[in-house]
Amino acid sequence: MSENENATPEADETPPAVEATAATCCGASTPDESDCSGKPRRNFVVEALAATIGAVVGIVPAVIGGLFFLDPLVRKGDQKDEPIVGGNEPGGVVKDALGFIRLTLGIDALPEDGTPVRYTVRDDIVNVWNKFPNQPIGSVWLRRIQDQVLAFNTVCPHLGCAVDHRPSEGDFYCPCHTSAFDMDGKPLNVIPPRAMDTLEAEVREGRIWLKYQEFRGATSEKVPV
Ligand code: FES
Repeated sequence: MSENENATPEADETPPAVEATAATCCGASTPDESDCSGKPRRNFVVEALAATIGAVVGIVPAVIGGLFFLDPLVRKGDQKDEPIVGGNEPGGVVKDALGFIRLTLGIDALPEDGTPVRYTVRDDIVNVWNKFPNQPIGSVWLRRIQDQVLAFNTVCPHLGCAVDHRPSEGDFYCPCHTSAFDMDGKPLNVIPPRAMDTLEAEVREGRIWLKYQEFRGATSEKVPV
């Protein structure tokens, strides 16, 4: 028996699958998209289905994107006759054209002896896409001085911690770096760079209106941010 006769049959008799396919198709190799006659395998129905799916896949996101893009304009148009609302009253905050927010407090709710009351101010947060009503935007100390209201932002002008009231000391005090202020907001030590930040407040028909603002910290000047 020769060496060729001992060779394994698999090595000589198993041609590549591609070659077998080509050999059985009209005796010539053909591309996958064509049959033996040379015509494309995809018929009209398949192509129409593919075109439809492609259109849906392309158009639907475009329509959704267009609606999303125009949403602020649509909502703005819807709201043009609405009052400026949002905030800290059951029916929504009332805010005037100058930015004064009507608080839920009347001046009668403040102690006549000038003891400060901490109050959380709320307002609508609105950006180009969304509106978040009744969001807390900051807090203030309110003191009654006869028939007027003295308002301070609770943010410490040193580095931004919250200023507390110390009834036992009769002052305002920031625990972060021990800034202290008298009841009129003036510094009692050298740590704060300026007095507590006063805010514009008015009493209208017994109700307190407040223009809430924040100011840059660590500066001697009172600079709105
Ligand atoms: S942040 Fe208030 S003392 Fe420093």
